Amino acid sequence: MTDLVATARSFFEPGKGILAADESVATATTRLASYGIETGPEMRRAFRNLFCDAEGIEAYLSGVIFFSETLLEKGDDHVRFPKSLAVRGIHPGIKVDLGKEPFPESPKEMITKGLIDLSERLVSYKKAGAVFTKWRAVIRIEGDKLPSAQALHENAKRLASYAREAQMAGMVPIVEPEVLLEGTHSRKKSRAVIEETMQTLFSMLAEHSVDRASLILKTSMALSGDRTGKKDTPEEVAEDTLAALMASVPQQIAGVVFLSGGQSPDQATDNLAAITKRAQEFGAPWPLTFSYARALQEEALALWRGKEENVPAAREAFLARLQKLSAVLGQSVERMLA
Ligand code: 13P
Repeated sequence: MTDLVATARSFFEPGKGILAADESVATATTRLASYGIETGPEMRRAFRNLFCDAEGIEAYLSGVIFFSETLLEKGDDHVRFPKSLAVRGIHPGIKVDLGKEPFPESPKEMITKGLIDLSERLVSYKKAGAVFTKWRAVIRIEGDKLPSAQALHENAKRLASYAREAQMAGMVPIVEPEVLLEGTHSRKKSRAVIEETMQTLFSMLAEHSVDRASLILKTSMALSGDRTGKKDTPEEVAEDTLAALMASVPQQIAGVVFLSGGQSPDQATDNLAAITKRAQEFGAPWPLTFSYARALQEEALALWRGKEENVPAAREAFLARLQKLSAVLGQSVERMLA
């Protein structure tokens, strides 16, 4: 087994998952503003420090994904974030795409950019301590018109080019084609779009000779659009999510991680529990875990509100959510061994 394959597999240690702490400056600013927190560079550093310097996270986290700004910053312990995570056995990672731009051929859709100077950036990220990388594309559903085949194809092509470059640079790639929750679509439609997205992606990954064994897939769950007002049961979500993935994702990849995509922390936990349970019943060939941003941070941010005196309570809420997520994964391991 190569080092890269071993690293990719190590994200799926029982009961552990990934914290996506890779909000861009713009996203972090809006996110924090929604909790009444005014941001500048120091407040963003304090935001990262809230989660990354919390005691005991190594029991639940195998990796943390950073935005480039954080990679060179230090926690309150005066140690750079990637180093303080690595010494606790948590892999530091980096979001390497440079955000989205409208797709000229279908202007309501977005294409992710960032390939131009990617190889040089990968060298500097690796030097700063990152061992894995992430690239996110967004797929919008609108009736039967969107996603267009061209946008799916172009986003898949760029995901594949990125994944190949990351592997050549000796870093694990996480490919994340996020099928958005926003919209009026049904859960069945979301399932069909996830399946089509993955089929397009995996044929492109094969064309670009991307090694599957050291590749991690980050995906949405199959959910009814947020403007339908429909609340899917965890069993329904599990059934349709796994049906889509089983039909389109090759068994050789290192594993599958889920994003939370706007679900509440409880929903994202209950749905993951049902998915891990159903994955065993289905005999899914890959390990599964979480890679959440919002569902892991929301409760803590509501308590923190940017104030030093609220750090202990906020960290307690973060640890409690990690424990709940870890427990639903742990139950699945126990079932597997039973
Ligand atoms: P959410 O869990 O908030 O969807 O974020 C995950 C992520 O990494 C988005 O790129």
